[in-house]
Amino acid sequence: MSINKEQDFGTPASTASQLVTLEIDGTAPAGTSIMRAAASIGIDIPKLCATDSIEPFGSCRLCVVQIEGGKGMPASCTTPVAEGLKVVTQNQKLADVRRGIMELYISDHPLDCLTCSANGDCELQDMAGAVGLREVRYHPVETHLNAAKDESNPYFSFEPSKCIVCSRCVRACEETQGTFALTIDGRGFDSKVSPSQNQAFMDSECVSCGACIQACPTATLMEKSVIDHGQPEHAIITTCAYCGVGCSFRAEMKGEQVIRMVPNKDGKANHGHSCVKGRFAFGYATHKDRMTKPMIRASIKDAWQEVSWEEAINHAASELKRIQQKYGKDSIGGITSSRCTNEEVYIMQKLIRAGFGNNNVDTCARVCHSPTGYGLKQTFGESSGTQDFDSVMKADVILVIGANPTDGHPVFASLMKKRLRQGARLIVVDPREIDLVKNSPHVQADYHLKLRPGTNVALINALAHVILTEQLMDEAFVNERCDVDSFAKWETFIAQEHNSPEATESITGVAATDLRAAARLYATAKNGAIYYGLGVTEHSQGSTTVIGIANLAMATGNLGRVGVGVNPLRGQNNVQGSCDMGSFPHEFPGYRHVSDNETHKLFETAWHADLSSEPGLRIPNMFEAALDKSFMGLYCEGEDIAQSDPDIQHVHAALRAMECVIVQDIFLNETAKFAHVFLPGASFLEKNGTFTNAERRISPVRKVMSPLAGYQDWEVTQMLANAMGYPMNYSHPSEIMAEIASLTPTFAGVSYEKIDQLGSIQWPCYDQESVGTPIMHEQNFMRDDGKGLFMLTEYVATHERVTRKFPLILTTGRILSQYNVGAQTRRTDNVAWHSEDRLEIHPHDAEDRGLKTGDWVGIKSRAGETVLRALISERVQPGVVYTTFHFPESGANVITTDNSDWATNCPEYKVTAVQVSKVSQPSEWQENYHVFSETQLDLLEQGINNG
Ligand code: SF4
Ligand code: SF4
Ligand code: SF4
Ligand code: FES
Repeated sequence: MSINKEQDFGTPASTASQLVTLEIDGTAPAGTSIMRAAASIGIDIPKLCATDSIEPFGSCRLCVVQIEGGKGMPASCTTPVAEGLKVVTQNQKLADVRRGIMELYISDHPLDCLTCSANGDCELQDMAGAVGLREVRYHPVETHLNAAKDESNPYFSFEPSKCIVCSRCVRACEETQGTFALTIDGRGFDSKVSPSQNQAFMDSECVSCGACIQACPTATLMEKSVIDHGQPEHAIITTCAYCGVGCSFRAEMKGEQVIRMVPNKDGKANHGHSCVKGRFAFGYATHKDRMTKPMIRASIKDAWQEVSWEEAINHAASELKRIQQKYGKDSIGGITSSRCTNEEVYIMQKLIRAGFGNNNVDTCARVCHSPTGYGLKQTFGESSGTQDFDSVMKADVILVIGANPTDGHPVFASLMKKRLRQGARLIVVDPREIDLVKNSPHVQADYHLKLRPGTNVALINALAHVILTEQLMDEAFVNERCDVDSFAKWETFIAQEHNSPEATESITGVAATDLRAAARLYATAKNGAIYYGLGVTEHSQGSTTVIGIANLAMATGNLGRVGVGVNPLRGQNNVQGSCDMGSFPHEFPGYRHVSDNETHKLFETAWHADLSSEPGLRIPNMFEAALDKSFMGLYCEGEDIAQSDPDIQHVHAALRAMECVIVQDIFLNETAKFAHVFLPGASFLEKNGTFTNAERRISPVRKVMSPLAGYQDWEVTQMLANAMGYPMNYSHPSEIMAEIASLTPTFAGVSYEKIDQLGSIQWPCYDQESVGTPIMHEQNFMRDDGKGLFMLTEYVATHERVTRKFPLILTTGRILSQYNVGAQTRRTDNVAWHSEDRLEIHPHDAEDRGLKTGDWVGIKSRAGETVLRALISERVQPGVVYTTFHFPESGANVITTDNSDWATNCPEYKVTAVQVSKVSQPSEWQENYHVFSETQLDLLEQGINNG
């Protein structure tokens, strides 16, 4: 079977609308290269240094053509089409020139094609064939043939002996990724590709995104998986299961084995780009820790017992029914996950609402972007970001608040950096110096407003104050598109002196002059775009900040067109989708309140069930109720609450208090250590479904290998529903999507058929004709009256204050190579970049405490204590410390408190008052965790041995 290769047009597409006529083709947009115009009508001009993901360079000269009436032989990759051009792409003279060029290339290239890992997938080999090269007459004195291999990167090798110095890798690293890790060193025959200052790849600035491998026409840069297993045989399009960018990939396969994940050129979220996680970190799917057998046990002190699927499902159902009989209908519930597909989340909440008979369903979005849902629904009428990712390419000023795109949303960050290199201006609002501030080549923030954690609202109010009092608003937009009464109230509020930059300076720590300048820059931009992340939402005033951001965009008219907008950067792959699918306790799919009569009736009729119109329990309420003995059974799919939720000692106590915890996951995660029923899950490679990314894009997830445990996750939930006595009989997730579409107006025009046809669809998609909505609120806002609503945003300081006992503020974030709780990435070679969480601390604070990098430090908060190693860094400001949370033993959530957002209960992960001191041993919690964890692994081992 041969793999279906993507066509390479040689040069990027022109964006011009003007068409020109030329003789090799009918028409082509002005600015198109002759090479691309020819390729689009099936004439492939030989090429080596050109590929359509990067700008043409014109160095190899293999693509020469002749133009009637023109001089010489221009390179077709760098020559644009022109009206009436008559181009000759093939004649004897051209053939001779091309053969001569190829001869030179091949003279310094190993002739080991038959045993080369790229055999059959090498452009050099293809071109030698295309130009009819049969012999090589030259033998250079100096060659690259003995150049040493660089195997330092765990995922790809660099074999310079095969390099033709076409510089495609260098340009891909610059143009596509924006890292500038590679250069061409030396001249003539001595020239060679060099990572950073002639370093090994792993010691260079390389972030292992894979763009250079993608661009390399030879076997020089090659995935080790291809070297080990050979060329793939077939490819299936699917979607990355890591972050909210939702990159499209070709899973290139050999039978049921994934050989490599190649970013899909037609993917509308990523346009053929990727990051180290989606591109390389897929090995967890077949890791030895994968759980493939259902298991049950009576108590968490017992060994697990492997059982059949039937026994596990029946046991789970009978336990849930028993608990309901004993403690009442509302004593059970479930937690869905943003890692699950839309279809899985939909049937999970359906099972809970219709099968359990209550609304006790919540999702991990509770702990990340629930304030986005609330704030944007209130102001704009819809709980989602307003733009597609490509919109950033038209932004003139980009305001990044509480987000770290180069680590958290790397492929989108590359696009943003491209726009910044084109000249867009940048304002960063963050307590820490993220890479975009000044650590990305050719990118530098105009303003870095380095605020104190927990003071977002005061800062946003001050920006608005400047815009209002300096008359920088877009009055026409406000009058025409917004609720003017609400604006009048907001105007009076924001104009008050306590919201001025001078008054808020002492709260935020941001100099009034900088703040004023940043406000002017954003407000006077032709197109001002806001991007924000968990640094906005995970606060006690998370919803207020989201509302403040929405106010800011409305006041400046930065909504409803390309290049502007309010864009929450969603953390996980399907945060948007899990919220859309009705996994909050108060909302049916499509964000409709459970008490709304019409919606309630619609779902009761469709689901043939009596549904509750009372909102159910949120995750923190479930924990409280468990400790009160009124919530005793939990079905948790794909979510690791025992690691990811705040104040985890409290979470652990709640889990211990329950009588039946059912965990469905691919690994025995931290929550499963407290479980009584374990249902093995399927990785994204083993199932069909859809994910919805941060730009509302619904993309296909396709099964590329059989589920290791025998079932896809939606099938497991369906079996549980049937065992509970609530019938479900879907035969494919497309039927679930059809039901979602029939019950949810914003999804009415969505179907698998259309997704397959278009590649992806951005909701709202109201009918069969619609192809989706890249930009929201173009004419009207989604609120009932079509107007944007301004809301007041009074700053209220968090309860979490620094004191003499807890003088530092701890804030948290992610790192590029690891992903959230780390269950997946820790089981891949990504640990080569980040094998432990560390505590970043400013040199002054470190000096006060006698700390140096590498020292063990105790971090103590009002909630608990943990120990990490210190990393002295000026990225954090004095008084602020920072850590990631990718390893369970780090216990970052032992110290986070149970403070939460006033509107949504989203935890205040970003502000914890702590003290830090040098220690020599793990904390008591860490020691207990170690013992508990080891015991649970023993109980698992015993179960497997007895099974
Ligand atoms: S490594 Fe590959 S892409 Fe880079 S210069 Fe060599 S052949 Fe070209
Ligand atoms: S993997 Fe990415 S960052 Fe590293 S050198 Fe290649 S293009 Fe640059
Ligand atoms: S940017 Fe996000 S979606 Fe894209 S490959 Fe990386 S982790 Fe996957
Ligand atoms: S492909 Fe045009 S000069 Fe190399």
